[in-house]
Amino acid sequence: MQINQPSYSEADLETTLVSREEIRTRVAGLGVELSEHYLGKDVTIVSILSGALIFTADLIRSCDFPTRLDCLRAESYGNATAAQTPPRITNPLKTDIKDHHVLVVDDILDSGNTLKAIIAHLEKLSPASLKTCVLLDKPARHEKDFSADFCGFSIPDQFVVGYGLDFAERYRSLPCIGVLRKELQDAATHT
Ligand code: IMP
Ligand code: MG
Repeated sequence: MQINQPSYSEADLETTLVSREEIRTRVAGLGVELSEHYLGKDVTIVSILSGALIFTADLIRSCDFPTRLDCLRAESYGNATAAQTPPRITNPLKTDIKDHHVLVVDDILDSGNTLKAIIAHLEKLSPASLKTCVLLDKPARHEKDFSADFCGFSIPDQFVVGYGLDFAERYRSLPCIGVLRKELQDAATHT
């Protein structure tokens, strides 16, 4: 069967699950929720690289409280769509979070393995409080008894790309979130 070459654009999507406009509205809404929760507090945002980069950039500009920004990298995926467990934390924080309010920002809660490992790691550093905010949640995939404190959208059990989420490091810059055409996933997985 002839496989079309990927264009790494929205043209490669089978369906769009969340539009650019829906993302914009929901991220602003999360900013309001977080601003109510953290009223009068100073918060250290820990963004999980690379998937949460774009979400974090928009989210912190929707938050009406002072923030510090740090990043962690947790590696559980190679170029495939199946997780290798357990995730490894491969770059440490630069900031001291002892007695600081910490909000972990991630792109997606899938099995829950990544966030659970990150929370266990950060808890040892004695923050004043520790909460999580994810853009997307796939409840059908949870393996752990774990849920995020703040969540943008619940989505079905499908592999998605866009707005920071990648397939083999591609598609992170798409403005919307969608499902890749099946033959493009298969082609990349088998090369
Ligand atoms: P978990 O440990 O299974 O919860 O997976 C967490 C990480 O896997 C996320 O931070 C993403 O980087 C990646 N991931 C999980 N599902 C998807 C998806 O549908 N598209 C892209 N990346 C995903
Ligand atoms: Mg990620």
